[in-house]
Amino acid sequence: MQGETLKTLVEHALAAIAVADFPTLEELRISLLGKNGKVTALLKSLGGMEPEARKAAGAEINAAKTRIAEALAERRAGLEAESLAARLAAERIDVTAPPRPAPRGAIHPLSRTQEELAAIFSAMGFIIAEGPDIETDWYNFSALNIPAHHPARAMMDTFYLRAPETARPPVLRTHTSPVQIRTMLDWALDEGLKDQPGPIRIIVPGRTFRADHDATHSPMFHQCEGLVIGHDITLAHLKGCLIDFLRAYFDVPQLPVRLRASYFPFTEPSMEVDIGWNRQTGQIGEGTDWLEIAGSGMVHSNVLANCGIDPRRFQGFAFGVGLERLTMLKHGINDLRLFYESDVRWLRHYGVSPLAPASLHEGL
Ligand code: DAH
Repeated sequence: MQGETLKTLVEHALAAIAVADFPTLEELRISLLGKNGKVTALLKSLGGMEPEARKAAGAEINAAKTRIAEALAERRAGLEAESLAARLAAERIDVTAPPRPAPRGAIHPLSRTQEELAAIFSAMGFIIAEGPDIETDWYNFSALNIPAHHPARAMMDTFYLRAPETARPPVLRTHTSPVQIRTMLDWALDEGLKDQPGPIRIIVPGRTFRADHDATHSPMFHQCEGLVIGHDITLAHLKGCLIDFLRAYFDVPQLPVRLRASYFPFTEPSMEVDIGWNRQTGQIGEGTDWLEIAGSGMVHSNVLANCGIDPRRFQGFAFGVGLERLTMLKHGINDLRLFYESDVRWLRHYGVSPLAPASLHEGL
């Protein structure tokens, strides 16, 4: 009697297992082998039997349990293989299919120049710093060693914002140099860095503003500032850094670069940076003419002191370049106003594919 019941139980169980899906399989496992399962109940019933009968029945029930457990495991493995196969089929990538549709927009040439500068300078260990477009008089001028009424302020046709009579009006920053001050102050104020200073190495690409408008000036334009501060930074570092940068950016490995003595209030000595070109043809790196491309110098000790940095212990160099100018020279664009006219034909022509990464630092 016992044998018959067990046999039917096993047959039914195996038949059900053979066609079960994942949830049903789990239900079957519980109802057969679980704590209150049928096979478990049979095993429990052994306790009340005579020793002889228990031995025979015990062997049978255990054999049945093993078969069922094996069938459950086998079905589970089968289902898992099936679902994996289904996933692989569904997620298959057809590498012969056409790529994404060509992007319809293009990266603006100025954004591209910023990306290229970021690529070149990050390969030299620089990070990107930012500051606000609206600055205080102190950050934009005074801290940079340009005191009120100093004639150097007249070099920049500043946009002032409205302010109460008594206060100095805020300005639309006339250059990216105030971010030098912001960065050095943060650095000097961080007590942890004072004793164990890591060097400052930043570039600051960003918008700048001056009351100017013609073919080579726009009231809003872009600059990129650079600043390096450390214990043993010399003019040789400035020179090497700018030469490497200009050669990488213009992709002219032997580009002639010349430093020419100049004046900026926030650097001493100050230098204008010229590159060799041919004025007639516009060819960069050819010919015998020089073209001014950047301002630079060793950071003035007053500027360091204004930021709480001891000029006897630290020194550094800074530079500033105009992004429109860099872009115009590289791509032969002759009117700066075109950058901002949003003429789609022009943007298509001078824009670049958003899918092409800027990797100029690998170019040399
Ligand atoms: N801030 C200057 C300008 O806008 C450019 C410049 C010159 C920046 C020399 C510098 C520098 O950092 O060292 O005309």
